[in-house]
Amino acid sequence: MTLILSRKDVMSVLEMKDCMTVVEKAFAELSNGTAVLPLRIPITPPNGLALYMPAYLKESKALACKVVTVFKNNPANYNMPVTIGKVLLQDPDTGDVICIMDGGYLTAVRTGAVSGVATKLLARPDENQIAGIFGTGVQARMQLWAVAEARKLSKAIVFDLNKESADKFAADMSAKLGIPVIVAENPDELMVADIICAATSASTPIFDGSKVKAGAHINGIGSHTPNARELDTEIIRRSKFVGDSREACFSEAGDIIIPVKEGAVSESHYYADLGDIITGKKPARENNTEITLFKSNGLAIQDVATAKLVYEMAVQKGIGVQVEI
Ligand SMILES: NC(=O)c1ccc[n+]([C@@H]2O[C@H](COP(=O)([O-])OP(=O)(O)OC[C@H]3O[C@@H](n4cnc5c(N)ncnc54)[C@H](O)[C@@H]3O)[C@@H](O)[C@H]2O)c1
Repeated sequence: MTLILSRKDVMSVLEMKDCMTVVEKAFAELSNGTAVLPLRIPITPPNGLALYMPAYLKESKALACKVVTVFKNNPANYNMPVTIGKVLLQDPDTGDVICIMDGGYLTAVRTGAVSGVATKLLARPDENQIAGIFGTGVQARMQLWAVAEARKLSKAIVFDLNKESADKFAADMSAKLGIPVIVAENPDELMVADIICAATSASTPIFDGSKVKAGAHINGIGSHTPNARELDTEIIRRSKFVGDSREACFSEAGDIIIPVKEGAVSESHYYADLGDIITGKKPARENNTEITLFKSNGLAIQDVATAKLVYEMAVQKGIGVQVEI
């Protein structure tokens, strides 16, 4: 039998805190060599892009493949979303697909979760920090939720080019987290933040890196092509740079590729993979004044670990529909 889980089913069982725990373990496995993570496979049919993202976590006993498509004309032509994702979870002992689940909400939570783990390990340890969030889409919401799991926040400040979206974000997230969430008029207002998240659709830098305060931690999760970036050269130069994967950063992340091309930093500026911080192979933050930065490209190990968590929670709670295929 195969369990089918809708987006609503996934939403009903997936909590950020639990996701952070399994994602942290997945990155430790990557660092320790017990994860299998092939590069994602792209196929380009005429109307869009299809990505196949498989991974296997030996210790976590999790095997899965996420299928994501980006078809720009879907809304106009088919009244369907641009991005659609589903995860096929397999039993690593038999290979059989035991669950097919919606991957949209799962992707957002797992992306938040890795920033939460990075924040837990790299941000200053003190209480009552201020979060600064760029962007107000689903990813930005998950970033703030995860940061709030990692550190006690006194408030959050949010900036988006779309003011209406920022107002709604502020109302929703303030109610969800029980902290003040203030809408900023410009990016500079976020420069008082201790923890900054860049989660926008921008392809050019969204704030002035020379204005970031000493001791801040930054999570950069948007922009995934060598020519696009949310973070400017100055903030890369000033930061201790940690990535989800060196290989992904130097093939996909303009945030680091562009400053290296410009000659502002060399490739050795890449300090560590997140997994090497988790496993203690590299020290995390070393003082209260350095700026730490985590660049996330999104790895299939996050999807696989989260899909297994969702499946186990759903089985425990008797959620979803079992079908014979
Ligand atoms: N790292 C990962 O694993 C991962 C996973 C999924 C999505 N993403 C990326 O996260 C980003 C956000 O995704 P989303 O689904 O929330 O997108 P979205 O389109 O729903 O929201 C993006 C928001 O960014 C705002 N924006 C654009 N330029 C801005 C600027 N200069 N300053 C402030 N706000 C600006 C837009 O107005 C919009 O509200 C995208 O780049 C997406 O590709 C990353």
